[in-house]
Amino acid sequence: MNGMKRIILSCCCLAVLTATAQHEFTILTKKPVAEIQPTMYGIFFEDINFGADGGLYAEMVENRSFEFPDAFMGWEVFGNISISQSSPAFERNPHYAVLKRPSHNDRRTGMENHGFFGMGLKQGLRYDLSLYARTHADKATLRIELLTATNDTIMRKRLNLAGKDWKKYTLALTPKVTDAKGFLRISLDSRDGVDLDHISMMPSDNWNGLRADLVKDLEDLHPGVFRFPGGCIVEGTDLGERYQWKNSVGPAENRPLNTNRWNHTMQHRIFPNYFQSYGLGFYEFFLLSEKMGAAPLPILSCGLSCQFQNRDMESAHVPVSELQPYIDDALDLIEFANGDVNSKWGRLRADMGHPEPFNLQFIGIGNEQWGEFYPQRLEPFMKAIRAKYPKIQIVGTSGPSADGDRFDYGWQEMRRLKADLVDEHYYMSPEWFRANAARYDKYPRKGPKVFAGEYAAHGKNNRNNFEGALAEAAFMTGLERNADVVQMATYAPLFSHVEGWQWKPDLIWFDNLRSFRTPNWYVQQLYSLFKGTHVLSLTENKLPLTGQEGLYASAVVDKAKGQYYVKIANVSDKEQSIILNFKDLKALTQGEMTIFHAADKAENSIEKPTAVVPKTQQMAVSGNRIEVKVGAKTFAVVQLQ
Ligand code: AHR
Repeated sequence: MNGMKRIILSCCCLAVLTATAQHEFTILTKKPVAEIQPTMYGIFFEDINFGADGGLYAEMVENRSFEFPDAFMGWEVFGNISISQSSPAFERNPHYAVLKRPSHNDRRTGMENHGFFGMGLKQGLRYDLSLYARTHADKATLRIELLTATNDTIMRKRLNLAGKDWKKYTLALTPKVTDAKGFLRISLDSRDGVDLDHISMMPSDNWNGLRADLVKDLEDLHPGVFRFPGGCIVEGTDLGERYQWKNSVGPAENRPLNTNRWNHTMQHRIFPNYFQSYGLGFYEFFLLSEKMGAAPLPILSCGLSCQFQNRDMESAHVPVSELQPYIDDALDLIEFANGDVNSKWGRLRADMGHPEPFNLQFIGIGNEQWGEFYPQRLEPFMKAIRAKYPKIQIVGTSGPSADGDRFDYGWQEMRRLKADLVDEHYYMSPEWFRANAARYDKYPRKGPKVFAGEYAAHGKNNRNNFEGALAEAAFMTGLERNADVVQMATYAPLFSHVEGWQWKPDLIWFDNLRSFRTPNWYVQQLYSLFKGTHVLSLTENKLPLTGQEGLYASAVVDKAKGQYYVKIANVSDKEQSIILNFKDLKALTQGEMTIFHAADKAENSIEKPTAVVPKTQQMAVSGNRIEVKVGAKTFAVVQLQ
């Protein structure tokens, strides 16, 4: 009997403990407080974690042009094979492989390429092999094979070659099995030898050379802005290794190789074979921006090599007096993107297949720079760009940290120089994100706007788990509330190969055949999908919701669609009941609520890609006071008509 009572009592206590006080959020519908820029939520691409070569760029052959410093890196060679560069096929990629008759009839000459962590082969999908060859005598024959990871032949074909001049050959290969770590073998099948260069293999479902599934992962984010090509790789370990966009355009065969700045710099994950083929170059970046409907935002070197790696060593950077070629690169890029087809760089764009301009509106000068070196160099860039292209908006930077002396100095200089936007970076703890939702509430309304160009919640072990995603969702209510100041925001980094990562967390992970979207990806998508056109004031007790009782919120209206979206992050351990009081509105008639909830440590993975996904449910609505219940540790997006 006593035992029974205790149970009843504890149930009552539970009821009292979980009963929630009612909140009331007041949303002013008549006077939007700010316009939301179409660029508000976007994506930031950098070739880190094998994001380009071995990732988004669909090329399956590693070191296809034999230009790595170790010319056969990526290849396993056998027999009578060597490297030459006399009379090359491609001036800027002069090395090629020379295959000759082996020393005995029962021996073979050839080479194998295992791609990037193996080659992902899909049953029934066509793979297009292409190579450039010239024969030493009149004719030669190659044996081309696809093999499984365990060395079983998947398929074999012969490729007949003829002629002593360089020619392009193609061969279609359609495997009958799937293998995540297959490989390619090419061997000489004739007495006479051959020179081979630019050996490429692409899945036939590629989109302009990009992996179809990863392009879809980007498109589904509905980004408003696309920042490329980085990140630190813009700057380079030294200036010789900076990203030079002019090397990334024109025929892919002749784009010179560059070292990837991330090959040795992350001591815990060194990849000496990490290079940039530039097969994914500026033209492809512009095409992708266009496909996604995102404003392109290229970032160029300002003449400073990576300051993390070179600190204040002035000799590592280009002197201001020698900056002109760097400035010319910026001016020429604008011409490449927007110029008339009769201009030099506009002509190249047209020759590459896009006579229409790309409508470039923004350009970033410098990545994550700090100190006096930066404004000294940015100023001449700005003068030249403003003089020739006054409508182009210029993005400067406040450096690598969220606050502090360097940050304050950076902002002071950006104001002095009248940059249009300032790129801020913060990789901080989930606690920091939860505590900083009011970060922009007091930012000056005049002067440069904010581009939150790199951010991510870095929790324990840097996992892409729900705790981080929810902290970002909470913080982003503050970006949205301050859309008059914050005009662009991009999570970073974007991509990561499950075997080739150096930096985490990252938005999208992939292997050679599959990808998965992290909980952070879904938060980004929800903000983009329900971006709205104007911010509305949302308050409780006249204050914005920036973490009171674990609640964060923002409200927007989409004037074109006649819809209201309220985003609520509840980071507390209890369900919260909230009245959304839409002032000056007679009646709402339809509603849906998207709910995103999981345990703090919940993640998606290659094996379980949809373990953590948002769910949408219908809501019965009437009048202008809508009651919603937002569960513990939940991000909710309420959509009302
Ligand atoms: O996103 C990874 C790196 O973080 C970027 O390359 C750099 O800008 C920042 O330090």
